[in-house]
Amino acid sequence: MTEKVGSRFTASIYDPFLWFGERLGMQSRRRRLLRAARGRVLEIGAGTGLNLDLYPDAIDDLILAEPAEPMADRLRRRRSQLGRSAHIVAAPAEALPFEDGSFDTVVSTLVLCTVTDPERALAEVRRVLRPDGRLLFCEHVRSGSLRLAGWQDRCADAWAVIADGCRCNRDTLTTIASQFTITAAESATWRGMPPFVHPLVFGEAMFGAPFRP
Ligand SMILES: C[S@@+](CC[C@H](N)C(=O)[O-])C[C@H]1O[C@@H](n2cnc3c(N)ncnc32)[C@H](O)[C@@H]1O
Repeated sequence: MTEKVGSRFTASIYDPFLWFGERLGMQSRRRRLLRAARGRVLEIGAGTGLNLDLYPDAIDDLILAEPAEPMADRLRRRRSQLGRSAHIVAAPAEALPFEDGSFDTVVSTLVLCTVTDPERALAEVRRVLRPDGRLLFCEHVRSGSLRLAGWQDRCADAWAVIADGCRCNRDTLTTIASQFTITAAESATWRGMPPFVHPLVFGEAMFGAPFRP
């Protein structure tokens, strides 16, 4: 995949830009989400690896897919700093180089806002998940408030330029629900970030029969 213009700059400011929001609750939200990871785990759009230290030790295998080389570079560095075992693969979510049904868990945090084609990315996630596998997601989404959604629409193009293609007005929960059964979902506010990326949803999704705990 061609490296996007600006991605080296984005990679260099990514962790400092998110730092405050991570301290104000995002990191604990990530930790809580990742507690449900099990078996063979794939993370799409793994970025600089802010989730890397938060996976439970009990998972069997961790594969991190990241198409932008500047992000992958930081991911490799964080992996070696943490001494965490994980394979890093240069792949977009829309074309995952894995066998059908080869993962128990797929993780997507703040990625479906940025992928070029969310429907295709989710179809790929479905394809690589085992029938009883789970998608764990935490995404910023279109606001349910008409006023904020209007601001998200107005800011979307400018924000996409600043944030390397991120679309702040996507109705990602509806897109996930079009291909999966959502088995848990919570709304939250991404504090410490600009208002048009405040609305967050995080939870779990499966396909096939609805999940019964
Ligand atoms: C906002 S960052 C999120 C990084 C990380 N998941 C996190 O939670 O901090 C979005 C990530 O998606 C990656 N990305 C962009 N296009 C993608 C695509 N088509 N498929 C998968 N990842 C993509 C970017 O390179 C970047 O690392």
